[in-house]
Amino acid sequence: MNILSIETSCDETALSLFNADFTDDHNPQISVYKDLVISQINIHKEYGGVFPALAKREHAKNIPLLLEEILASYALKKDIPNQEIINQKLSELKTLVPKDEVLLGNLLPIILSFEKPNVDAIIVTQGPGLAPALWTGINTAKILSYVWGIPIIPVNHMEGHITSILLKPDYLNQEKALYPLEQFSFPYLSLLISGGHTQIILIKDWGEYEIIGETIDDAVGEAYDKAARSLGMEYPGGPKISQAALVATGNSEISLPRPMLHSGDFRFSFSGLKTAVRYMVEEKKNQGVLDTEMIQNIAKEFEDAVTEVLVSKTKKALEVFGAQGLIVGGGVSANLHIAEAFGKLGTHFDIPVYFPERLMCGDNSLMIGVAGLIQYWKHGDSIFEKDITKLEAQSNMRL
Ligand code: KG4
Ligand code: ZN
Repeated sequence: MNILSIETSCDETALSLFNADFTDDHNPQISVYKDLVISQINIHKEYGGVFPALAKREHAKNIPLLLEEILASYALKKDIPNQEIINQKLSELKTLVPKDEVLLGNLLPIILSFEKPNVDAIIVTQGPGLAPALWTGINTAKILSYVWGIPIIPVNHMEGHITSILLKPDYLNQEKALYPLEQFSFPYLSLLISGGHTQIILIKDWGEYEIIGETIDDAVGEAYDKAARSLGMEYPGGPKISQAALVATGNSEISLPRPMLHSGDFRFSFSGLKTAVRYMVEEKKNQGVLDTEMIQNIAKEFEDAVTEVLVSKTKKALEVFGAQGLIVGGGVSANLHIAEAFGKLGTHFDIPVYFPERLMCGDNSLMIGVAGLIQYWKHGDSIFEKDITKLEAQSNMRL
């Protein structure tokens, strides 16, 4: 079975093509043909964060480019149909994607200039994320599903961040790119740390998740981005803070709060910490001591505070739920300091701790494909969207 997967929930436009093999009942496998992503970071940088209408416009521009790259390798080129045929298809499809005529206009000439490729299903992110951004991916899936006559499997982006750890390091050059599912014995815990989420998830089995705790205000990545802004660093601030923290001397007498460290539950709060960074920066500036060394030391103290809270809450959850292993996922899982702390936690409990491959930490479509593959493996055809005209983006979708 060949699958095209699509991710557009935030500021990454991503498309993948892979083969899914279900010969081994217990361990579905994939071979990756294409894994493409265009990041919009440089465009959103100017605004200090992701601007939804701009993200939608960029997705509508980028998806046709990525699709054309895939079709050029995996579909036969045919003569571009005459304008009458294109117009006919356009009017049929307008009712399916009423608010996305720009996307439709960009995509259709490309789709119609290739024979239908050997693709059996489309997997697309349904939510959570920015609604206008999500709709672009969903409407692309609808258009392709209609023209090629193939089903759609909608998936949860956060499940993608969990399943991203299944991809082996050299997934692009491997016939069997996934770790065998058998090697995981449940229950597992997952800590999801991204720009929009901070959640501890109990994994009872593949595809069976329960949120046991989450942030009551800002997500970790959001706090990183906002703290970085106070420190005069560009968006996205996560990598910038961690680079600064790495070279910090630690010589400044500064301390930031560890919010909700002793709250006795699995909830997080990072909004106060972000504000504390802003006040500290103002104070040091007024005192005339905000030099590079001070900025690096504040970055390090911020990273230490975040790491301590994340590790402490996860440690308690591992004990309470008797978890057999831990999966850390989401954009912030690219952070080396956090990864090191969780590595030690794994050693403490003598359990495996999985992090995604570096390329899989941020948003990508392959992890969405793997999440959909697991849903299909568990539920079969019943997971296909019954009526594609009713498929909608769910910006607050929950696991
Ligand atoms: O998962 P992701 O790519 O997008 C969402 O679904 O939100 O996460 C993006 C977040 C951003 O806030 C970014 O600053 C953060 O991940 N991030 C990091 C690092 N790399 C990315 N945060 C801390 N350390 C990093 N190395
Ligand atoms: Zn994400």
